[in-house]
Amino acid sequence: MDAYSLFRPLIRPLQPETAHHLALKALEYRLISGVPYDDPVLETTLWGLRFRNPVGLAAGFDKDADVPMQALALGFGFVEIGSVTPRPQPGNPKPRLFRLDEDEGVINRMGFNSKGAENAAGNLEQLPTSRQLGVIGVNLGKNKETADAAADYVIGIEMLARFADYIVVNVSSPNTPGLRALQDPAELEGLIGRVREALDRTIPENRPPLLVKVAPDLTDADIAYIAAVAMSDAVDGLIATNTTITRPDTLKNPARAETGGLSGKPLKDLSTRVIADFYTATKGTVPIVGVGGVASGADAYAKIRAGASLVQVYSGMVFEGPSLPGRICRSLAGLLKRDGFKHVADAVGADH
Ligand SMILES: Cc1cc2nc3c(=O)[nH]c(=O)nc-3n(C[C@H](O)[C@H](O)[C@H](O)COP(=O)(O)O)c2cc1C
Repeated sequence: MDAYSLFRPLIRPLQPETAHHLALKALEYRLISGVPYDDPVLETTLWGLRFRNPVGLAAGFDKDADVPMQALALGFGFVEIGSVTPRPQPGNPKPRLFRLDEDEGVINRMGFNSKGAENAAGNLEQLPTSRQLGVIGVNLGKNKETADAAADYVIGIEMLARFADYIVVNVSSPNTPGLRALQDPAELEGLIGRVREALDRTIPENRPPLLVKVAPDLTDADIAYIAAVAMSDAVDGLIATNTTITRPDTLKNPARAETGGLSGKPLKDLSTRVIADFYTATKGTVPIVGVGGVASGADAYAKIRAGASLVQVYSGMVFEGPSLPGRICRSLAGLLKRDGFKHVADAVGADH
């Protein structure tokens, strides 16, 4: 029995946000550990970055870059810190995080609680420069009160890009008024243009790749438009998807009525469909990071076959605990070998 199994009955009755805070502290002091699983079939290279495996920790878990190395040590191939806002802000009033146990889902309306870019820079600065363990991405958000959204992402780039193996412009969290509208034709190209210009200016050599994180609640026209922007030289990849504002009829837990973004198992198939749609719309030319309801090797494999080059996990960690990345990797490696793939990259988009 691992330490997490012992703690679990004690953590369960707590408010989800308190449990999350405790999990971060336990990670910080290395009281919980995982069982990483390495296998050459899982190794992959994207944007010139080497990934030990394609399974990452999604944004929102380590918003302030408190524990990226500890999270990597659980067995993730990469960790995305953030979303970080330029200035510190408290986020929405509590309670703002709800666990839907029967549904294996989570609803959150955190609203970008962030200690700000200066704090994150201070934490990232202290990391070892040769990080053998894995890749660290930095996910940028905007302050609630900022009218000129692009200006906030530019500040994020200027303060944090030098620490990032890749940069994410998050325009898809449902809990910051107006944020999702940045995915619209009137906004996205201009925003990406300014962000890219800032990135080229801040880091002229060995610029980190620029990814855009999208919502699952997009129309076909939205997808066609975003795909066209993604195929331009300005963008290097897509992260699909953020949480959904829809509520499937199947949800049982009364917390389904809470406002916010839904993640976990109830998001799984929707996000896989959106990955497949983007893979088709971009003709497989734009790397996609698939996220939404991944809690097993089979879930990760389905997203890879739909078109994801990498996958990420958040809600699955809430229900399955810190041994999850190792278990996903072991099972994924088995599935890839069963189907005759020598490298995970060969399975990307196999369903198309
Ligand atoms: C509590 C919570 C906070 C989140 N915060 C962020 C965030 O700050 N930035 C972001 O891009 N995504 C955030 N997400 C979205 C996740 O990164 C992920 O896209 C989504 O939860 C779907 O994956 P999952 O089903 O594995 O949780 C958050 C999710 C949760 C549950």
